[in-house]
Amino acid sequence: MIRVLFVCLGNICRSPMAEAVMRSKVKEAGLDGRIGIDSAGTGDWHIGKAPHEGTRKLLDEKRISWEGITARQVAKEDLKKFDYIVAMDSSNMTHLQGMAEELGLSDVRKANDAKPKLCRLLDFVPEEQPGDVPDPYYTGNFQETYRLVDAGCDALLERIKHQLV
Ligand code: 4NP
Repeated sequence: MIRVLFVCLGNICRSPMAEAVMRSKVKEAGLDGRIGIDSAGTGDWHIGKAPHEGTRKLLDEKRISWEGITARQVAKEDLKKFDYIVAMDSSNMTHLQGMAEELGLSDVRKANDAKPKLCRLLDFVPEEQPGDVPDPYYTGNFQETYRLVDAGCDALLERIKHQLV
């Protein structure tokens, strides 16, 4: 099984949206059980909470289930457990890199390697550089977040599919 962890700051807006969108795409592709998906935040403010109202509303509109998704904080063990740790923006990435360094992990690879460990979602979408998913907690623009999350998840799934064959 390939394990994917989406990471943002609060784990209530962007990364739970990515978790729900990816879960839905994986199911549609018949790859349930072959790709595991989770999300977490670098911050601890919202632990145990359901996704933000804006994310819930958008997912409901798209008929994408967010059932069972609650916020948690990223843990050091996550960096060892997951095959892809996918940050929503550069700030999340810097935080994760710091955690990896503390752990002395030498296998945290960059996105252009064959199998990246730590990467940003939009690293996989050439048309969307420089590659940060804006935070709708501040912008209020959940539609734009969805557009980027959807494009990023499509590209990431294509990449993972090649690994599965
Ligand atoms: P997210 O958005 O990282 O996409 O979940 C945020 C949610 C909450 C906060 C910041 C960003 N906060 O400061 O509480």
